[in-house]
Amino acid sequence: MRMIDLIEKKRDGLELSPSEIDWFVSAYTNGDIPDYQAAALMMAIFIRGMNRQETVELTMAMARSGDQLDLHDIAPFIVDKHSSGGVGDKTTLAVQPLVAACGVPVGKMSGRGLGSSGGTLDKMESFRGWSSALTLDRFKKQLKEIGLVLAGQTADLAPADGKLYALRDVTGTVGSSSLISASIMSKKLAAGADAIVLDVKTGSGAFMHTVEAAKDLARIMVDIGNDAGRKTVALISDMNQPLGHAIGNALEAQEAIATLHGDGPADFWAHCLEVAGQMILLAGKAPDLDAAKALVTAARDDGRAWVKFRELVQAQGGDVAQADNPDLLPHAEIVEPILSPQRGTIAAMDTGAIGWAAVRLGAGRLIKSDEIDAAVGFVLPCKIGDAFEPGDTLGFIYANDAEKLAEARESVLAALTWSADEVAPLPHFYGIVE
Ligand code: URA
Repeated sequence: MRMIDLIEKKRDGLELSPSEIDWFVSAYTNGDIPDYQAAALMMAIFIRGMNRQETVELTMAMARSGDQLDLHDIAPFIVDKHSSGGVGDKTTLAVQPLVAACGVPVGKMSGRGLGSSGGTLDKMESFRGWSSALTLDRFKKQLKEIGLVLAGQTADLAPADGKLYALRDVTGTVGSSSLISASIMSKKLAAGADAIVLDVKTGSGAFMHTVEAAKDLARIMVDIGNDAGRKTVALISDMNQPLGHAIGNALEAQEAIATLHGDGPADFWAHCLEVAGQMILLAGKAPDLDAAKALVTAARDDGRAWVKFRELVQAQGGDVAQADNPDLLPHAEIVEPILSPQRGTIAAMDTGAIGWAAVRLGAGRLIKSDEIDAAVGFVLPCKIGDAFEPGDTLGFIYANDAEKLAEARESVLAALTWSADEVAPLPHFYGIVE
């Protein structure tokens, strides 16, 4: 087969056959197709779309690109979760230890920052020495020993997603439901969990801007999961404003730690409780969602979840002193407030623009080789529906460069829409796809 034929076929809106998709995935994974041709195909898929059959074939080919774990020699039932990507979304950092602390093993494969959305692995790498590059043996050993593991795509695990994910991040090809679906579900299938809770975001900071688009994406992924024999549900959650307060890697790690100590922002805790509760419910550890949430809350309140978080940092080589004392995490040189320019109520936030502002500060990548600056970002406690007077503090910018700080301030202020009237707060969830 020739790559140019596949690119032209998709460019012209035609359907790719299973053998063409399979060939592309294995040839690109093996390094036989250059990035520029793979990027052209990603863009053609982004613009032309893929039908359901092509999406399923792409997911399965990507899952087959490395090993597919069978973890039943380790535990009878393992759960996993995945978010479709959002701004300030540090859910995994809190939810994984919460669920593991309830006695449900969580084996998880995560990703790095993608477009305007932050990545779990980048956040965990704020801890000096922490690594997500685990061999299969190490993945299994850790899951058995401490009941939680957080891996990245490697040569063994979903390598096709590892390469395509990094390419999509910097080629404007993230927000395609087929590519998101294949990326997420290939990792979930390869990592071998029996049950998966998907957190599909919708709104100005999500890749799916409408509830309908989020539900469509959720439906494809839930079907793929269930067809593969995994119990899969998807929550449709709001991303019209950042989740919690912190945006940026070390700042988010710090917020997750505070949350595990019972001091996190209310919206973030409510989100974690729902996601963790659904995971406990799927694992059959509670008769209903309320009972599942009670177990999760108890695991936070008596410190068991915090112990699990420490174990996760330590087991993967991270400096646990930074977990115990978050002041030791990377810290920005310049911290300045963002002041309200007027009297009024926040009516809307362009959350994607806030995410991109964090990327430009250094919290994400504009090209593949960019190094992440773990220290930079925002702490933005302001929410839609909050009222301010001129000069009130909306939040803070953390930067290591004065010019970038000034640009970030402008971007955040430009991302806010104000109203003279009262504005109702937004719902947190829009439904569940089962
Ligand atoms: N998360 C992923 O793992 N992949 C995507 O494409 C989007 C979110």
